[in-house]
Parts: sequence; structure tokens; C-alpha cells
Amino acid sequence: MRKILLSLFVVLSLMSCAYAAEAKTLVIVFSRADENYSVGFVEKGNTMILAEMIADKTGAELFEVKPAKKYPAKYDECIDLAKREQNQKARPAILEDKDVSEYDTIFFGYPIWWGDIPMCMYTFVEGHEWNGKKIIPFCTHEGSGPARTESTLKRLMKGASVIKPFSMYGSTAQNRRADAEKEISVWLNALGF
Ligand SMILES: Cc1cc2nc3c(=O)[nH]c(=O)nc-3n(C[C@H](O)[C@H](O)[C@H](O)COP(=O)(O)O)c2cc1C
Repeated sequence: MRKILLSLFVVLSLMSCAYAAEAKTLVIVFSRADENYSVGFVEKGNTMILAEMIADKTGAELFEVKPAKKYPAKYDECIDLAKREQNQKARPAILEDKDVSEYDTIFFGYPIWWGDIPMCMYTFVEGHEWNGKKIIPFCTHEGSGPARTESTLKRLMKGASVIKPFSMYGSTAQNRRADAEKEISVWLNALGF
């Protein structure tokens, strides 16, 4: 009986190791540098700072969604264009695609734009299959928190398990990086990473 239990234990351990080796994690992010609310001109976007921390701490690959036509560097011009895109339900072209089929767990990062995900993220999301994937949204904002993005992602990513988005002020990510890093670590630990 002991031998049987021992063999069972060995087989189960090997199976869980094999699963861990196969499980692949990806970080997808859109983030905009240049002029932004509350931070001025920045070289690296606020959400990108968090995306890099997450990729670094989890060992996940990072993929950046880049619009084919860059958003304006000036904040006022960017918010006007983003509002127009949202009103028109635009799907701005993106520069490069990523095959997400081999990833089980996907961190999905974006800034809040007019209460929702930026329209270039609609383009990306609608171009892929999400069935069976675990989606971990994270975002930066300047006051509205994750706004309506959880329901947007649940609606668009059919068959995926989309958890509650993590959100942080963009200015915290940009200007208080040690605090941001601590918060990200606590969150990742709570998720089991
Ligand atoms: C076009 C645009 C729309 C925005 N809309 C909102 C909003 O609805 N609510 C909010 O709290 N912040 C809003 N912001 C602020 C951004 O969410 C915030 O600055 C974010 O950290 C930017 O991230 P990024 O640097 O990764 O692009 C907006 C910023 C821009 C440029």
C-alpha cells in the first residue's frame, strides 16, 4: 500500500511539474509616452512602467501594442482624438500582431481613456480568440479607477476568465516607483505569483 501511495505521489508531482513548465504567461500592454495629465512630458508611459515590473517579477514575455499611427504627443490633441475615436467606435490599425494562442495566463495592461480601454486595444482584442484563458487586467488612470473596463473586457473576451482589474494612479507609477513596485509585488503575491 505504501509503495502504491509513493508511486502515486511521484506521478502526480511529475504531472504538476510538466504543467508548470507548459503554462505560459504573457503581458500585453498599450501605453503612451509624451505629454500626459499630471506627469508632464515622460519618456515612458505610466502603464508601461507597471507592465515591465510585472514581466520582470513573473518572468513573462512582454508584448507592446503599438498603433500604426502614433497618438499625438500633446495631451490636449490626444484627448480630442481619443474622444473622436470612441464616439466613432473606431478600430485604429496596429503595427504588429501577436499570436496569443499558446499563452494560458495573460496580463492585459492599458491606460483608462475616457472611462474605457483605448480604441486600439479594441482592435487588438477583437482580432483574437480568448476562450479558456485567464485574463489579469491592470491599468493606470488619474482618478476614475478601472471605470467600465472590467465589463468591456468580459464582453469582448468571450470564454475567458477575466478577473477584477488592478488599478493605480499613473502619477504614482511614474513618480513613486518604489511605492508602485511594492504595491505590484503585494498584488502579484496575492494572485499566487
Ligand atoms: C486620451 C486620454 C483619456 C484619459 N481619460 C481618463 C479617464 O477617463 N479617467 C482617468 O482617470 N484618467 C484618464 N486619463 C489619464 C490616464 O488614464 C493616465 O494618465 C494614465 O496613467 C496614462 O497611462 P499611460 O502613460 O500608460 O498612457 C486619460 C488620458 C488620456 C491621454
